[in-house]
Amino acid sequence: MESMESRIKRYGFDVGLDRTGTNSQKWDAPPKGVLPLWVADMDFPCAPAIVQAIEARAKHPAFGYTHMDEKDYQAVSGFYKRRHGWTIEKEQMLFTPGVVDSLLLSVQAFTEPGDKVLIQTPVYGPFFSVVKRSKGRQLVENPLRFTGEDWEMDFEDLDKKLPGCKLMLLCSPHNPSGRVWKREALEQVLALCKKHGVLLAVDEIHCDFVFTGHTHVPLLSLPGTQTGVVAAVSATKSFNIAGLKHSTLVCPDEELRKKLQDQASAMGMGGGNMLAVCATTAAYTQCDEWMDTLLYVLERNRDLAVQALNAMGLPALTPQGTYLVYADMRALAPTCEQIDKILLEKAKVMLNRGTDYGALGEGYMRLNLACPATTLQEALGRIQSVCR
Ligand SMILES: Cc1ncc(COP(=O)(O)O)c(C=O)c1O
Repeated sequence: MESMESRIKRYGFDVGLDRTGTNSQKWDAPPKGVLPLWVADMDFPCAPAIVQAIEARAKHPAFGYTHMDEKDYQAVSGFYKRRHGWTIEKEQMLFTPGVVDSLLLSVQAFTEPGDKVLIQTPVYGPFFSVVKRSKGRQLVENPLRFTGEDWEMDFEDLDKKLPGCKLMLLCSPHNPSGRVWKREALEQVLALCKKHGVLLAVDEIHCDFVFTGHTHVPLLSLPGTQTGVVAAVSATKSFNIAGLKHSTLVCPDEELRKKLQDQASAMGMGGGNMLAVCATTAAYTQCDEWMDTLLYVLERNRDLAVQALNAMGLPALTPQGTYLVYADMRALAPTCEQIDKILLEKAKVMLNRGTDYGALGEGYMRLNLACPATTLQEALGRIQSVCR
């Protein structure tokens, strides 16, 4: 049997790849010489089966409007059944260009100007912007509680704030904290949304990045979710094909699905990206071994980074999922703006500012682990060099 180290080499997870000059936002936007550990995509080649699927399709020189075949639907449902024990029926699926588009679609389809939408902060920036970009909607924040040892949901505050809200947007697993919400927490969120008549849209884009000892519970696999709940998933984060733009929005509730379909038409969100569909179907059907190998590499990187950051006096919790580490860097400077400047100009490393995830993130930075261990070690060494 092939060893894990041999698989790591075969997939190129040990050396990664040079992404400069490839229209990569992560690599081509920062100043020259800066090591980018910001935007959440990976410095690894995607699985060979995905490249082959795109190459094979590209050989046919017609790229007209596309649609999803039976095999594409089966690929989605087969993957989530196999990897997460979650049954998705064909008629529950809608396809959108991305998970952020799905969140925006949900806000616009399910709420009216003046309605309130609740999010749990700190959270991935577009959770704020999809609400702010939707005319007249009001944002309500239910901050997560940092206990000193963990990030937890504040259910008492949630129970107080949900009344009067129309929709809640949930991030599971959670970006940036790396928390993989337990079944009991999800059940409690669901019960509170039901109690107060609030619709629930969950972003599960990070669901495949879950480390040893933790399990992602798909919200729609819980009882009581046949009405009032939608879930956004995608192969793009898991398989490093985010630039292809494609995702699945799952909605078992027929009435809500109709609203989503009408809103998608109103927004001109139709069709799809042919190459993304090919890539997604290949990812969902032929890449389990690649994914398992990647998870092993990411878990090793996680342990390396968390240990190093804490040793530098930059407290970081061990992420349970995602490939992101959220670290308290106030030992470097009090504000994200100042920390970012030090990291960029002195350490020559680019991370994401905690304030990208809301005001609660002041003094925190988010570091992306999805690179070869050698790159990560180089970045950590550079960060160490600016620690007093
Ligand atoms: C929680 C979360 N949702 C959505 C996205 C982006 O999804 P998409 O590119 O499909 O819009 C990201 C990307 O980092 C993310 O972290």
